[in-house]
Amino acid sequence: MNKKILLSGVKPTGRPHIGNYFGAMKQFVDMQEEYQNMIFIADYHALNFIQDKEEMSKQIIDLTLDYLAIGLDPQKTLIYKQSDIPEHTELTWIFDTITTMPYLMRAHAYKDAESKNKEINVGTFNYPMLMAADILMYDTDVVPVGQDQKQHVEYARDTAQKFNFIFKKEVFKLPESKILDTVAVVPGTDGQKMSKSNGNTIELFATTEEITKAVMSIPTDSKPIDEPRNPEEDNVFKLHKLFTKSDELFALRERYQKGGISHKESKEILIKNIDTFIKPLREKREQLAQDTDFILDVLKEGGKRAKLKAEKKMEIVREVIGVKLY
Ligand code: ADP
Ligand code: TRP
Repeated sequence: MNKKILLSGVKPTGRPHIGNYFGAMKQFVDMQEEYQNMIFIADYHALNFIQDKEEMSKQIIDLTLDYLAIGLDPQKTLIYKQSDIPEHTELTWIFDTITTMPYLMRAHAYKDAESKNKEINVGTFNYPMLMAADILMYDTDVVPVGQDQKQHVEYARDTAQKFNFIFKKEVFKLPESKILDTVAVVPGTDGQKMSKSNGNTIELFATTEEITKAVMSIPTDSKPIDEPRNPEEDNVFKLHKLFTKSDELFALRERYQKGGISHKESKEILIKNIDTFIKPLREKREQLAQDTDFILDVLKEGGKRAKLKAEKKMEIVREVIGVKLY
């Protein structure tokens, strides 16, 4: 039986945090048995933000290490970088020609940038079209992403529909986004959505010291220890829900509700549990980082295999739009 195709990408723009992990990366690993997995490094999307040779190269290697350290297996998952497949940018251009400016102006990412009065580069404006090309190139069935990327997947669906309609052929399959409800938004150390731009992150490969520092910085209320507290409103407890096993979590919840647990004690338990979770990932990453050749081989091999698929798809696309004459 043919497995469904799962595809997703992450921009190589810095160390991943636990929001990225639970919201996106973990799903890639969990689903590599059930689906035909394609997970890539969105380096051309990152070029909107990183315009420095050394930094770009380093970030690409780092993200590949992250992927392998969380358990992506190159035997089961096609791991590649976007820039190895120039067909992505070719397809982006074709999509540009069937897309209007007002439609792209409705994108959340564009509106955010606009409201901050930033000078927006064309690459940022066009971001959803490159993402549509990434997705539609491989007949993707599902795209696991965090809540904030849902709109972008809808752009890909719309674009597929529009292309198929204009050129009167079902060339592109309509993809679905897949959002894991329980962790759709991982809270940061301030209770708001964990995000690099909010400066409230806990890094996925953090050292024990970094975990301690982040958890200790979580703002809490100033009620006396004995007073009951609503665990659902407590920033520390919100993170316990991700890292603390159910029996311990149950006991903690009761202590919050009855009163009697200090913020310090709750934070210390959280630090221990986050560290227990992160330690094996951190160690695996350190071990993989010793062998850069292996990392480059994984990317090279994945890029070759993805390119073959993209070449086939583009043959069809060029034919359908009428530019393929021989
Ligand atoms: P950031 O908000 O830190 O800049 P990105 O925008 O690079 O993160 O997101 C990378 C992936 O991780 C996306 O699929 C995104 O939806 C997911 N993600 C990011 N932050 C969270 C979060 N707090 N909770 C759940 N998923 C998240
Ligand atoms: N825009 C995504 C993000 O910021 C990254 C991305 C690029 C992506 N192309 C994609 C995700 C295709 C899923 C599918 O996280």
